[in-house]
Amino acid sequence: MENQNGCSLLKERAKSLTAMLTLEEKIGMIHGAHLFSTQGVERLGIPPLVMSDGPMGVRQEFEPDCWKAVGSSDDYVTYLPCNSALAATWNRDLAFATGSVLGAEARGRGKDIILAPGINIKRSPLCGRNFEYFSEDPYLTGELAVCFIQGIQQWDVAACVKHFAANNQETQRLWVDVEIDENALREIYLPAFYACLTRGKSLSVMGAYNKLYGEHCCQSQYLLHDILRREWSYEGVVVSDWGGVHDTELAATSELDIEMSVTDNFDEYYMADPLKKAVEQGSIPEDRIDEKVTRILTLMMQLHMMDDGEKTERKSGAYNVPGHRQTALDTARESIVLLKNERKILPLDAKRLQKVLLVGENAQRLHANGGGSAEMKALYEISPLMGIKMLLGGNVKVDFTRGYQSGAKKPEDGVNWQEKSLEDGGGHGRENQKENQNLAQERAALRREAVEMAKAYETVIYVGGLNHDYDSEGIDRSDMSLPYEQDLLIQELLRVKPDMVVVLIGGSPVEMGAWIDRAPAVVWSYYAGMEGGTAIAEVLFGSVNPSGRLPETFYKSHKDCSAHRIGEFAGEKKVSYREGVFVGYRFNETFGVEPEFCFGHGLSYTCFEYENAVYEASESESYLTCTITNVGERAGAEIVQVYRMAQNQDLLPIPENISELPKIFPSKELIGFGKIYLEPGETGQMKIAVKGKTEPCVFGIANSVKSMRRVEQAQGWWIRPMIRLFRGSQVPFLV
Ligand code: BGC
Repeated sequence: MENQNGCSLLKERAKSLTAMLTLEEKIGMIHGAHLFSTQGVERLGIPPLVMSDGPMGVRQEFEPDCWKAVGSSDDYVTYLPCNSALAATWNRDLAFATGSVLGAEARGRGKDIILAPGINIKRSPLCGRNFEYFSEDPYLTGELAVCFIQGIQQWDVAACVKHFAANNQETQRLWVDVEIDENALREIYLPAFYACLTRGKSLSVMGAYNKLYGEHCCQSQYLLHDILRREWSYEGVVVSDWGGVHDTELAATSELDIEMSVTDNFDEYYMADPLKKAVEQGSIPEDRIDEKVTRILTLMMQLHMMDDGEKTERKSGAYNVPGHRQTALDTARESIVLLKNERKILPLDAKRLQKVLLVGENAQRLHANGGGSAEMKALYEISPLMGIKMLLGGNVKVDFTRGYQSGAKKPEDGVNWQEKSLEDGGGHGRENQKENQNLAQERAALRREAVEMAKAYETVIYVGGLNHDYDSEGIDRSDMSLPYEQDLLIQELLRVKPDMVVVLIGGSPVEMGAWIDRAPAVVWSYYAGMEGGTAIAEVLFGSVNPSGRLPETFYKSHKDCSAHRIGEFAGEKKVSYREGVFVGYRFNETFGVEPEFCFGHGLSYTCFEYENAVYEASESESYLTCTITNVGERAGAEIVQVYRMAQNQDLLPIPENISELPKIFPSKELIGFGKIYLEPGETGQMKIAVKGKTEPCVFGIANSVKSMRRVEQAQGWWIRPMIRLFRGSQVPFLV
């Protein structure tokens, strides 16, 4: 991308061009003229700006002016692991590679802006869009999203980082007003945006639907003017969320550049005819529009959509090339998290198997085409059932039984949910969407059948979890329980097959309390893209050694999450973030609320030993170095996690309202991480950049002792290297 000088030259050029445009032409450029594009100005060679969702692949084509899929056979694409899956890899290189696939495919499909990545913080496990987001931690989110954006933008396509800001629930998302202490906003909800817009240089950003401090984010003076433009000096393009604008004057005089929406009355959009009229009548100065148009033209030149004075040829991109599928597979492999593995149940030995039974709808369910605007037409999607059959080949008999019935409703033909997405406040909780209650009998029969069948198999693998009826835009879950009576099914299966392996697929954590102590091996996979089933099979049978780590806390119940315990979730008219900065593990660690599996947790089939951990800090940089050896028998990858740990801070009683507490800090905060691959017996050296300036504090590698105890229990006799560290002398250590 252009350097500062290059950029100001482009800006000058854009300004001159703006001066040549009529008011009508300018108005055409700052609002949707179709559902996914603006108006161009042919006489001056200005093309329309063409956008598309979304984070997991370029969305299917719609008719320009209605939410009807074109239905052609040329818009199938590479289906990439969702952002939560990407976050579970903790791998910056994979974030770049995945972003690069998305950028290449967006360009290959003729797009200018790809409406991704989604980087909102996972404040509550119940938010329906969590699967589109990275993490509960702003540092992990920012680090990975920056690489993702850099990957996208090398293809002459703009990333559009979304949704700015504090968009953390779907319920009443168009109207809910977020009440939050400014410090918490700046510590938790803004840093990843700052990183993406400054370091990542995202060329565009999408405003959020919700209100913040009483202002709608897409037309907010505070967010868009005070923070984005003035404090952060951001010069890129601000796009509204679809239908996020509510007032002509507020929008036009804010720093919003383009208004988009879901309805086809394009000329009536707030920044269309009503704005033109206001300018003609003199109530809104025309130079507010000129600023917007200049920014849009600058973006077009940065993307080489039009002459930038240097006649740079625009990259053409490509979609569905084999390399893209390899990236999807690489990312999927590293995204899978081994939560529990007692008695070394996993990996399974394919050579000793004669027949295996898979139970659970997710063994064969495909997920690409769901979840809201992140839906897409995958070129293909390997289910776990197919992945396992592909891996085992013809000598092993692989059978399947559903075990439960989801009762999913099929969307009406040709109608997309988005057409109606502005109704009902833009979203609601799960209670409003009654599940089909008549399925109880059917489920009982499926359960009986599965349990009977399981008795006859030496190896049984359960594949359940959630699907996009639950992980979806516009709907928040009402609790974390596994739907479709799966708890009952898992318990009954474990009774007859105590060695059963449980694989769960979902976009956000689920309750496991009913059976977790009896299940010896549990594998977690987020929606892992077109090769997700391949990766799951490879992890189960050991050709891939799992290296994913949880990018969020897996609570025992949503009630243990601070948004529910102290704050509010989900609010209707208002929502109070009373938990302040104590989001996710920051809350659980500080106040001693034990999760089922902690942030950063994930097991391996090998183990690693840490030595010589040293923290060094100078004025300009801080980093931690250490030596790591793979002391097990399999090649594998370790993720070194560096936390700032509060010194001598006792566990505090859980308060009603964090802001009433004397100033305390979270007892633990992620400040650095790195990933290393090692062959058995191999030793490697890590140097991990650490966020922030030098200050006296204690550093810990990986999780706290308390959380580690849990890991130790879960892992049985396999002692985690981090425990050795905590038990040894190097860490925690005082700087
Ligand atoms: C979503 C955005 C999406 C847009 C366009 C909205 O419903 O909130 O994330 O990019 O639609 O489809």
